[in-house]
Amino acid sequence: MFIMAATGSAVGLGNIWKFPYITGENGGGAFVLVYLVCILLLGIPVMVAEVMLGRRGRQSPVNAMRELTREAGLHGFWNSIGWLGVVAGLLILSYYSVIAGWALAYIPEMGKGTFQGAGVVESQAFFDALLADKSRLLAWQSLFMVLTVGVVACGVVKGLGVAVRILMPLLFVLLLAMLVFAYREGDFAAAATFLFRPDFGALTGRSVLEALGHSFFTLSLGMGSIMAYGAYMPADASIGKTVLVVALLDTLVALMAGMAIFPIVFANPSINPAAGPELLFVSLPVAFGAMPGGLLVGMLFFILVTIAAWSSAISLIEPGVAWLIEQRGFNRFSANILLGLMAWALGLGTILSFNDWSGVTFGGFTFFAAMDFLTSRIMLPLTGLFIAIFVGWVMPRMTAKSELNGDNSKMYGLWLWVLRYICPPAIGVVLLVGLYDTFAAAN
Ligand code: PHE
Repeated sequence: MFIMAATGSAVGLGNIWKFPYITGENGGGAFVLVYLVCILLLGIPVMVAEVMLGRRGRQSPVNAMRELTREAGLHGFWNSIGWLGVVAGLLILSYYSVIAGWALAYIPEMGKGTFQGAGVVESQAFFDALLADKSRLLAWQSLFMVLTVGVVACGVVKGLGVAVRILMPLLFVLLLAMLVFAYREGDFAAAATFLFRPDFGALTGRSVLEALGHSFFTLSLGMGSIMAYGAYMPADASIGKTVLVVALLDTLVALMAGMAIFPIVFANPSINPAAGPELLFVSLPVAFGAMPGGLLVGMLFFILVTIAAWSSAISLIEPGVAWLIEQRGFNRFSANILLGLMAWALGLGTILSFNDWSGVTFGGFTFFAAMDFLTSRIMLPLTGLFIAIFVGWVMPRMTAKSELNGDNSKMYGLWLWVLRYICPPAIGVVLLVGLYDTFAAAN
């Protein structure tokens, strides 16, 4: 159950939409390599730590941190791990729901055959028209938000869990089928070269920070989601093994999405690999328009993407909901409505950033880009850093040891060593250099 919930949270737009487009923007191979190293060296150890904190605390992230710090007689500063997460979750949900709305919007279009036989020009025109139409964006974003809030408010998360158990494997199979199509019809070799041959010349501090931030984003780390789910994990389950499975599945889906999208991108010279957030939405419909049965496959694809986004969105809102219930006496229903409304309202900024406000910038970022930057490149790594320091250096050693005693002792030693000596300096340096590079480039 924990594996399903955690995979449902981890696999989402981050893998299918974001990973391919930021890889395109950051020049391919070298970025992918750094991303993989970040997952292995920083993401997995921090994930183990975060699940452990949740299982130990057995409450909402905010209260779990409060409990753990009190238990060990530590400074209240460490409670910020819980706090930052609740805030980051709402900020991420605000734009996540807009992008998930795009996927929703594509479902009926696929079914109507809008993309049958369409080329890149038509696909691009459709996407541009969608972004220009704020009321359509608003309608789809709102629908997605209602779905998210609804499922949690009605307490049918279990029901979704069952759906995810069936549909996630289906998403996997569909991605495989698209890989085969991309292999036969697209420029597979160019895509493989782009993704797997590192050109370190293309790498800057900014892109390393992006890879780090994305490794946290895609694993749902640094935000309390995984901590909140850890609270439901049985005491005798091995945290290490479970985390490895989730991280592996998550990485696999991202790489498969990349290998499904880039062959099509490189076979169509008019699609720019560095096009940004539109990459998935412009390239794949062209493929669906050309493949036999594309009407159905395309519809199914966007339905599955929506469901993957849905199960991630639920985990974005859950830490805040749990806290409102425990601490402020809310019931599940009203807590969800309140947080859902807040994220929805903030999402209006992202909607407008694609049309009316496209010229309005904050330190060089549009509203959407600013939200993305603030959350995935500052807040998530920062919380990850705090978690590594807290678990590695501050918390009593026995706590971690007793939670992880089901795990192999050599692995435990290795994990602790990496968490203490690799994670904090690496995350710290990447954060500083990345921020410096970003703002130096902006000025
Ligand atoms: N991991 C999710 C994705 O890849 C996004 C997410 C981030 C969900 C943080 C929960 C917490 O789409």
